[in-house]
Amino acid sequence: MKKLTEHWNGIYKKTEDENLGWYEEGFSQTLKILNLIPTWKESKMFVSGVGTSGLVDELLQSKADLVLNDLSSEAIEKLKLKYMDMGNRIEWLCQDISEPLPTDLKEIDIWIDRAVLHFLTDDVSIGQYFKNVTTSLNVGGYAIFAEFSKKGATKCAGLDVRRYDIQDLKEYLPSFECIAEEEYTFINPKGDTRPYIYALFSKIK
Ligand SMILES: C[S@@+](CC[C@H](N)C(=O)[O-])C[C@H]1O[C@@H](n2cnc3c(N)ncnc32)[C@H](O)[C@@H]1O
Repeated sequence: MKKLTEHWNGIYKKTEDENLGWYEEGFSQTLKILNLIPTWKESKMFVSGVGTSGLVDELLQSKADLVLNDLSSEAIEKLKLKYMDMGNRIEWLCQDISEPLPTDLKEIDIWIDRAVLHFLTDDVSIGQYFKNVTTSLNVGGYAIFAEFSKKGATKCAGLDVRRYDIQDLKEYLPSFECIAEEEYTFINPKGDTRPYIYALFSKIK
């Protein structure tokens, strides 16, 4: 795991945000899905593998409270510096998302994952990831996943990825119902196409 942390820290140390392969502006697709949730602006949100995403700016324009997670201390430190005035609206969690979450981290209303889950490639890690999603979310809470689709690239950031379709996600989320799903092609900063699947689930039990 140390190797993986170093890998991501190395990327954030040497790369300007605008040159990251997953850098986006506007966040139109994530906001489109988020806006299907009537109460999102007053919720407690967990952002898995947040990196240095500018999505945080958008989320902080609402009244939502955030838990920001990443494996990379480098990414977390950059964000901490940027949002040092946000006080207790942000909780920080620098850990591998495929490890159990702290037991006091519960009562999350919305889980957001863009391009993080697909880096987990073994069944144990994926199983624990979905256990984290399920145990931390309130009944009635939501989870948004944006992952490389089956038409997508097989590698990102020099690492293998596991690609998803909606059926795969449904199988990992038996206590959720799927509210929306959509294919979306992201054009990355180099102009390459990156087909994603976006999905919104709600926890029903
Ligand atoms: C492709 S980037 C996406 C960043 C951000 N979600 C976005 O959309 O801009 C993947 C992020 O996941 C983080 N990451 C990778 N594996 C992780 C893991 N096992 N646990 C937590 N974070 C992880 C990386 O450090 C990186 O910030």
